Amino acid sequence: MTDTAPSIPVPAAVGELYDRLTRTAMSDGTFNPNVHIGYWDTPDSEATIEEAMDRLTDIFIDRMGVDGSSHVLDLGCGVGGPGLRVVAHTGARVTGISISEEQIRTANQLAADAGFADRAAFRHGDAMKRLPFADGSFDAVMALESICHMPDRQQVLTEVCRVLAPGGRLVLTDVFERAPRKPVRHPGIDTFCRGLMATMADIDDYVALLHRSGLRLRGILDVTEQTTLRTGRELAKLAAAEDRPAAMDERNFLFSDDAFHPSDLAGVEDFGCLLVTAERP
Ligand SMILES: C[S@@+](CC[C@H](N)C(=O)[O-])C[C@H]1O[C@@H](n2cnc3c(N)ncnc32)[C@H](O)[C@@H]1O
Repeated sequence: MTDTAPSIPVPAAVGELYDRLTRTAMSDGTFNPNVHIGYWDTPDSEATIEEAMDRLTDIFIDRMGVDGSSHVLDLGCGVGGPGLRVVAHTGARVTGISISEEQIRTANQLAADAGFADRAAFRHGDAMKRLPFADGSFDAVMALESICHMPDRQQVLTEVCRVLAPGGRLVLTDVFERAPRKPVRHPGIDTFCRGLMATMADIDDYVALLHRSGLRLRGILDVTEQTTLRTGRELAKLAAAEDRPAAMDERNFLFSDDAFHPSDLAGVEDFGCLLVTAERP
């Protein structure tokens, strides 16, 4: 019998997964500087997936409250799209880290192409280890759809607290199973965790997790309707459109791993998304 239970993500393997996804997207024309879900403010919003992805970054920008004098850490920075948007919209300096070497190469190239090499620097690193930054060195930390790959959330958030300056904000999204929790969870959630090397957060423990890390909670929101559920619907629509082969739409999100396709989660209301804001006291 094959064991289909998700295993605990290992950073080096997560790095290889994103190396592969980045190379594939660069070569098949599906490259997107954002590697995350979209955010639609209202059910009748007609924003495209690309606009909705930028909208999610803009929500992070509002919540971080940064300006041209700020230094922002982008934890799990992808290929730099969100970080470069922070630079462009606020003038803040951004340092990003990702476990994928390929993403870091790409992010630094995009920063140079945008003329932001002096404001944005991306480096390879494992956010589940001690972060290579001094205490209190950042005014804000953003973790956009990255902490789900870091099973030791406690270690990560404790380090985030250490590198934040007093009053500095953390904004993150995370995935969790929505209530009522089923005795057997939807198979699409296991496929997601296995294929994308992720774990689901425990929402009941999230406030305590932040407090144990030394952070003060400012807000925790279930944004499933605005993000994951709507993203699933939009991808399904794209896949159904005659002139777009489903395989290409599946890759739009860089979710091109053999074992997982966004349609596995289409309409799965149990697959939730949290938007969390906290600060270092
Ligand atoms: C879904 S992507 C999100 C990328 C980016 N935040 C964005 O929104 O475009 C997840 C990111 O988390 C990073 N990541 C996962 N585990 C990591 C770890 N242990 N240390 C550093 N980065 C990690 C991946 O390399 C990838 O860049």
